[in-house]
Amino acid sequence: MVKILYSEKNITKTLIIENNKTILDLSRKENIAIEGSCNGSMACSTCHVIIHKDWISKLPKPCIDEKEMLLLLPNYTKNSRLGCQIVITDQLEGLQFSLPEDV
Ligand code: FES
Repeated sequence: MVKILYSEKNITKTLIIENNKTILDLSRKENIAIEGSCNGSMACSTCHVIIHKDWISKLPKPCIDEKEMLLLLPNYTKNSRLGCQIVITDQLEGLQFSLPEDV
């Protein structure tokens, strides 16, 4: 089990998820408003999340397909990732994320 921090409106919650699940899985379990309409096949980008600045460089780099999907987003930031592509491991204990601003 891994602790992940989720921030919304200046409130940070500690959430627990099993290893090898994704941020999309965690969001569904915790009723965080991520749509994830393609269920992780990298065809929708509705699982867009913002990774805390202290964590973005600690994640494996996005693959080319993920990067291309992210660059199409109107609210893309340098800390944007697709939640379905972030697989939770022990190394990510304490990872912090939030949702992007609406556009
Ligand atoms: Fe569709 Fe992540 S759920 S790209």
